[in-house]
Amino acid sequence: MSRGEYPATRMRRNRIRAFSRRLVAENKISLDDLIWPLFVIEGENIIDDVLSMPGVNRWSIDLLVKQAGQAMALGIPAIAIFPSIDPKQKDPAGSLARDGENLVCRAVAAVKATYPELGVICDVALDPFTDHGHDGLFVEGRILNDETIAILCEQAVHQANAGCDIIAPSDMMDGRVGEIRDALNRSGHVDVQLMAYAAKYASGFYGPFREAINTGSQLGTNGKATYQMDPANGNEAMHEIALDLAEGADIIIIKPGMPYLDILQRAKTKFGVPCVAYQVSGEYAMICAAAQNGWLDRDRVLLESMLAFKRAGADAILTYFAPDIAKILHK
Ligand code: PBG
Repeated sequence: MSRGEYPATRMRRNRIRAFSRRLVAENKISLDDLIWPLFVIEGENIIDDVLSMPGVNRWSIDLLVKQAGQAMALGIPAIAIFPSIDPKQKDPAGSLARDGENLVCRAVAAVKATYPELGVICDVALDPFTDHGHDGLFVEGRILNDETIAILCEQAVHQANAGCDIIAPSDMMDGRVGEIRDALNRSGHVDVQLMAYAAKYASGFYGPFREAINTGSQLGTNGKATYQMDPANGNEAMHEIALDLAEGADIIIIKPGMPYLDILQRAKTKFGVPCVAYQVSGEYAMICAAAQNGWLDRDRVLLESMLAFKRAGADAILTYFAPDIAKILHK
């Protein structure tokens, strides 16, 4: 008996020619996958750079609208707007979150007035507005769950009134998705989508974001561990996601991104719903820092990171690299 040529299966055959590698590629990155997070500050004609995120800035509303125009020109489907609030405007209760004329609401209205087709996403959480930097009401060392949700509902309705298309609760209070859904429905926003940060971990990778929205230097190590998830846990993420879906979430976010690809893959396999990965500020900072030192090839590594998200099951990716990726895809 002949055993034929050795080895019968040569995996490298499909890889030899470039056209063949294209044919057998299982995943692709596309413009349709991108959500671009942008920071906004008060003032006019202001560009304020975020030191720990090279290439990322806080924009005054007039310039934020120009960035939105850039997103449109590049074919990026949606942006997420995060406000960087003057510390003088913050208080323990995050009162500014309940003001329908606050920075983020004015920013949303300005963007939607100029680019009605561009998807606009807003976080729901109190951290940009509280002087202690927590996502909820913080009283005698505890985060108050139900009292916080009442405020989050108001915040969500204001943002929807301003024209926000997708409300993204990032606060990790229990039961908030259902309450926010009801509040939106009651105020006539039945078609506003809910993209829940369903599995959001208490992560050190959010450090640069907290610089960007000037919050949380007072939080201390692991300051949000009583409401964000323990990085040790995977099954618990499935439980969180099931609850948010039952409460009416349309899309779920897994966050951070690359260190949590196992969670993303499990979520996609188990629930089969739209899943978004958030490549967070610390992931952005790591890639930029290594590239600046000449230790990594920036473009190559960021494209590879996008493919990793797709392979794990992401339908879309929140990434500060969105315009870079779009430009590479246009080449
Ligand atoms: C606020 C929020 C955070 C991020 C998005 N929304 C920070 C946090 O929870 O402390 C992090 C995003 C990033 O690091 O890029 N609730």
